[in-house]
Amino acid sequence: MQEFSPGLAGVAAAKSKVSFVDGQIGLLEYRGIRIEELAAKSSFLETTYLLLYDRLPTQAERDRFLSDLVHHRRIKYRIIDLIKCLPEHGHPMDALQAAVAALGMFYPARQVLDPEVQYWSAVRLIAKVPTIVSAYYRVRRGDEQIQPRDDLDHASNFLYMLTEKVPNPAIAKVLDTCLILHAEHTMNASTFSGMVTASTLADPYTVVSSAIGTLKGPLHGGAAQEVVEMLEEIGSREHVRSYLEKKLAAKQKLVGFGHRLYKVKDPRAASLQAIAQQLFAQYGRSPLYDLAEEVERVGEELLRGKGIHANVDFYSGVLYKTMGLDPDFFPAVFAMARVSGWLAHWVEQLQDNRLFRPGQIYEGVHGRAYVPLTNRH
Ligand code: ACO
Repeated sequence: MQEFSPGLAGVAAAKSKVSFVDGQIGLLEYRGIRIEELAAKSSFLETTYLLLYDRLPTQAERDRFLSDLVHHRRIKYRIIDLIKCLPEHGHPMDALQAAVAALGMFYPARQVLDPEVQYWSAVRLIAKVPTIVSAYYRVRRGDEQIQPRDDLDHASNFLYMLTEKVPNPAIAKVLDTCLILHAEHTMNASTFSGMVTASTLADPYTVVSSAIGTLKGPLHGGAAQEVVEMLEEIGSREHVRSYLEKKLAAKQKLVGFGHRLYKVKDPRAASLQAIAQQLFAQYGRSPLYDLAEEVERVGEELLRGKGIHANVDFYSGVLYKTMGLDPDFFPAVFAMARVSGWLAHWVEQLQDNRLFRPGQIYEGVHGRAYVPLTNRH
């Protein structure tokens, strides 16, 4: 009899050196460095290099990596045409998944074991995903896509491509830190999905588009959008308790709470909360953030003793909303960050690849007779 673990909980599906989580104490490390330290001292692109190459880059390596990324931000006009053909009421994650899959048709990368192919595919994907996300954001509103600007850093350029305004550096820094905190998280659902695809030796664009599809779901990257929708539905502090109690009495889950691994508060939620506190102390209070804090406080009280606490998606949506993003774009911003982690696992997996082909426990019948259509009732 094969052992069965629903949701593969507790089953190791790979050996990895990319990141480490200790859910009992709320520890997350990328390549051995705590995320709090990276959030305070690094940038998203430097962290991406660390995830991909298992070390922080030297000055020369960093310069070359950043320059290669800047020079691959643009997307072909046919990809923009493809985005223009998509319905404006569609979900941004579907637009991103379709456009990333289409990118693979322009940049065939069949020699996936070749380090040069791996490098340039990673550069293209990390550089172009923000351009695709912002293009759909603009086109959906009936506006023209804005070309990337080579003189702006990764986060500033993304915000610029949304609004045609160079953002306040403090806001861009907040977004960059959000990207660091979302860049990688061990064997999560979307990474696993990408790795299953990678194990077939499919090209990296297909790998990333599989992972994007998995990230979209509300149990994974879709939760940030639902948190903001929940906060808007609650409306004000005095409705928090009755709203949460009603949800729990109806055996519904509170979005933005709970995690398969963390039995304490998700360290990424704590870091995002600290960033939000600094931001709102500097630029004026945010009623949405104040409401989120109250929801967390009451939610913690109601879920006490169950090991269920705020997760990464609890505060990220509040920050993205403050930057003016539409809630259905939050998972796409998550994807802009997580593409680094997916690619780090893709590169690692190809070093010692084996096709994923798990077993199953068959619970059906055997030896059934085929009944002709006329005899079926
Ligand atoms: N609110 C209330 N109860 C919860 C919550 C929650 N958010 N999360 C888990 N529980 C309860 C379940 O009802 C269940 O209770 P029971 O044992 O009495 O039936 C128990 O905790 C275990 O829950 P599972 O869903 O089986 O645990 P799992 O490890 O699969 O859950 C998950 C992880 C899917 C993230 C879950 O906590 C959840 O659905 N959270 C809300 C959605 C969310 O915020 N997702 C984002 C996660 S972060 C990320 O993916 C980037």
